[in-house]
Amino acid sequence: MLKFKPTEYKLMNVATGRVFEDRGWMLSDPEGDSPSLVRAVYANRKFTPRSDLRGLYRYAEWMPLQRVLKHSHAPVTYHSKGLGKFLGLDNLYITFSGWCPKVGAQMATCSFKETEAYSVLGRMSRKEKRILVVQSAGNTARAFAQVCSDNEIPIVICIPEDSQHDLWFTRKLHSCVKLVAAPHGCDYYDAITLGEKLCQDGRYIAEGGAKNVARRDGMGTTLLSAVETIGRIPDAYFQAVGSGTGAIAAWENNLRLIEDGRFGSNKMKIFVAQNAPFALIYDSWKAGTRQMAAMTPEEGRHQAEIILAKVLSNRKPPYGIAGGLFDAMSDSKGDAFLVSNDAVMYWILMYRNLEGYDLLPAAATAVGALAAAVREGKVGKQDVVMLNATGGGSLGAMSKGFSFKEPDLVLSPDLPADEIIAKVDALF
Ligand SMILES: Cc1ncc(COP(=O)(O)O)c(C=O)c1O
Repeated sequence: MLKFKPTEYKLMNVATGRVFEDRGWMLSDPEGDSPSLVRAVYANRKFTPRSDLRGLYRYAEWMPLQRVLKHSHAPVTYHSKGLGKFLGLDNLYITFSGWCPKVGAQMATCSFKETEAYSVLGRMSRKEKRILVVQSAGNTARAFAQVCSDNEIPIVICIPEDSQHDLWFTRKLHSCVKLVAAPHGCDYYDAITLGEKLCQDGRYIAEGGAKNVARRDGMGTTLLSAVETIGRIPDAYFQAVGSGTGAIAAWENNLRLIEDGRFGSNKMKIFVAQNAPFALIYDSWKAGTRQMAAMTPEEGRHQAEIILAKVLSNRKPPYGIAGGLFDAMSDSKGDAFLVSNDAVMYWILMYRNLEGYDLLPAAATAVGALAAAVREGKVGKQDVVMLNATGGGSLGAMSKGFSFKEPDLVLSPDLPADEIIAKVDALF
């Protein structure tokens, strides 16, 4: 491992403003009495890319890190010619997290979930004895599995068995990565239940999702990459959302950049996109309140089955919580868009034609939203627009062959916790 002085930061309860020490893996304010995200407050208030550190850790000053890991890559931002011209935008910048060496993008797991994996795992102390537990339906699982394998960090990844096709790898994974699947017919929430039951044992530690400042500030590097290239805070930001964590993260880094003062004082409009008919965030936003729209588990599962961008089907996004997506969109005067499956397909093909590489369906959903925003006059020809192209290049990354990681265990989420714990314990 490389020598690295941990990043200096404190945590702030967004609802109350109370600032406190991170005594290790804190996901909320122990003294907070209403639901709120906590946010990292970095000692270095100036945006200071670190040219002495490799890959993603270029942005280590604004990630809550104890250590840095091997083989990371940063998102890549460039001025779009093809898509920009097609949409009539003079200042469209694409921030791509995926695989396309010709534009300098080298994230082999092909999505911005790699940024969160390197940040979350870097937040864990080397002395940490507990085993990390992550639940995922796709790209997050692939990113954490690869990064843990490369850096020999033990992890249990809980997935629905039906998402197994997302667990492709170009190299054999290290045995420290264990995959536990909820059987055929189960969804992401069943995988979450498995992980929650496992974490009832003190040997395991839950990653924490959007509540983990490291996850958000890893994803927030997409904006840092954009601002380093553009030289200023964009006017508008487009991202496809399931939880909205990446969009919250971008807004938080926007606030830090305003405080820095050298990159402008504007809040970029946070424009988010969902794939119809799964429209939970869209419906909640259009209803105009902090309250999340109603959705039964059956509706959620059904709509998730229909959409192409499966990763955008989170049923419990951090929407209304203080410091969450509603706040990010309201504060920045953003908006939400719905993109049909047909439009997602269209933009996968058009983007390949205009930019020269393939996007994942989720990222193509954001392109569909950008096109709609141009049509509706919500962004202008001269506006500086950042498109967060959150994943792609998988055709190229997989072209030299790949294999699937089989689950180490298939366990019903209905099993009692002690049985799940005993079976997973036996894997290590
Ligand atoms: C490629 C891709 N884009 C977008 C998203 C949505 O991310 P967020 O968690 O910010 O909603 C995901 C989530 O898994 C994803 O994999």
